[in-house]
Amino acid sequence: MRFIITLIVLLTHPLIAFSYQNGMVVSEHKLASIAGAKILNAGGNAIDAAVATAYALAVVTPCCGNIGGGGFMTIHLENGQNFFLNFREKAPLLANKNMFLDAHGKLIPNLSTKGYLAVGVPGTVLGLETALKKFGKLSREVVMQPAIELAEQGYILSPYSYNLLKAYGQSFLNQPHLAAIYSKNGVFLPPGSRIIQHELAKTLRDIAAQGSGVFYHGWIAQTIVAESQQHGGLLSLKDFADYNVQFLNPIHCHYRGYDIISSPPPSSGGITLCEMLNILNYFPLTNIGFRSLNGARIIIEAMRYGFTDRNTRLGDPDFIKNPINELLSEHYAKSLSEKINASIHDLSGEVQVEESLQTTHFSVMDKKGNAVAMTFTLNGAFGAGVAAANTGFLLNNQMDDFASGKNPNKFGLVQSEANSIAGGKRPLSSMTPTIVLDHSNIYIVIGSPGGPRIITAVLLTLLNVIDYHMTLQNAVSKPRFHYQVTPNIVDTEPFAFSSLTKTGLEWYGYHLFRQEPWSAVESILVQNDGTVIGVNDPRRPDGAAIAG
Ligand code: DON
Repeated sequence: MRFIITLIVLLTHPLIAFSYQNGMVVSEHKLASIAGAKILNAGGNAIDAAVATAYALAVVTPCCGNIGGGGFMTIHLENGQNFFLNFREKAPLLANKNMFLDAHGKLIPNLSTKGYLAVGVPGTVLGLETALKKFGKLSREVVMQPAIELAEQGYILSPYSYNLLKAYGQSFLNQPHLAAIYSKNGVFLPPGSRIIQHELAKTLRDIAAQGSGVFYHGWIAQTIVAESQQHGGLLSLKDFADYNVQFLNPIHCHYRGYDIISSPPPSSGGITLCEMLNILNYFPLTNIGFRSLNGARIIIEAMRYGFTDRNTRLGDPDFIKNPINELLSEHYAKSLSEKINASIHDLSGEVQVEESLQTTHFSVMDKKGNAVAMTFTLNGAFGAGVAAANTGFLLNNQMDDFASGKNPNKFGLVQSEANSIAGGKRPLSSMTPTIVLDHSNIYIVIGSPGGPRIITAVLLTLLNVIDYHMTLQNAVSKPRFHYQVTPNIVDTEPFAFSSLTKTGLEWYGYHLFRQEPWSAVESILVQNDGTVIGVNDPRRPDGAAIAG
């Protein structure tokens, strides 16, 4: 009976799912959520379902889901333990600090974003295998089966995915292996077409049968390295053989009685989120009012301090010492909150930075109380826009996330020496897969794509729930704003502020710049009565919350 009710809910509300028998999966593509839910129904736990969802996203969202990129997994286990798995890409050993700069220290256009020089050693396959081995219950073959079927039998191209291909995938038309998948006679297949990926299916079948060895030591590494060497890249077999993933201590902070578990360096996400929340703890946001002038100003100023530290002090912990304790201390938060009370900044406007759509987040929870928040990425514009020969998957352009001198990267971030390029180093990320606990019980599982806007999308959604008492659906949908110091503008989604608040912010000197909707918060929330709500961000029409 419960199954039938769930089914009816799903058919009538494809973007929201309420409660479940075996668990919940929320992702940017309905077929990937279904893949995860299938694994939950086959007896898998949240980690099994996460691995299945991730591989399925690599098939049905080639812009974002991937095996040619990397990411992070924040895990909460039913026994109360929390883990963070780092499978971020690494710079090739031959990489160096100035590799993208000309003789004048300026960034050479496209070098860090297109083609093989832009590619970091991918981490997704080893990350998923490590998570599955340590926490999963089912075999690799079983959890990868839904993705293999989607690659072999195909999926229907949605209008949304078609538009992405047209906007960012033009270079595919000149690459025979990619052109064969997505186009016919030099034109992209129209929405409604079935996308079949035989080469990707073979790659996935080999990984399922042989494990990550085939990716890092076998034909897949050999093919990528050969193509990279042929096209001016730096990747070597040693880069693949040496690649490792790490379990790191998650970032932990408290906000209004809740425990926030989030991503540590090489992500800046958890520290920046917690620094902002620690500051905001000093302000009664509920009373100050949702998007009131003062409320908006306080939050933008918290973003200023969070992003200033993010951009100047953080980097790969294997290479630098991150001042985590200092940035997250009570004393520091208090001193910053006092500055906010006093400050009016002189703000000058600069050009805006366009959103790109090449990351994806999903959230999973199972009936036992295990949860996974996972964000993974190719970085931008279908990554580097290249797939090596017959491997069937796109490679990332994560090298652009490093600082190259004082030049802004593709997200407009101007970063510091702490995040400069070095062989084997991981670029600083903004991905913020986060789990919020209420007295050790799962309250919210959350994360988003969006480059630096990931951190503020997660922040605002949490404030919407915790301070402004919105339903999860409302909290995710509400228009967002974002401030990252450089460029010196406040990005605003349409209707983010009332005209009164907008005029007031402009009076203070903020430069508001209207941007199209951004990020995609895929989230799960457990209500007081135990009901579990999954919400797909309406900004991603292909996504769905699916209950298992
Ligand atoms: O790791 C990071 O912060 C970026 N590479 C994420 C890129 C991203 O979210 C692009 N998608 N919207």
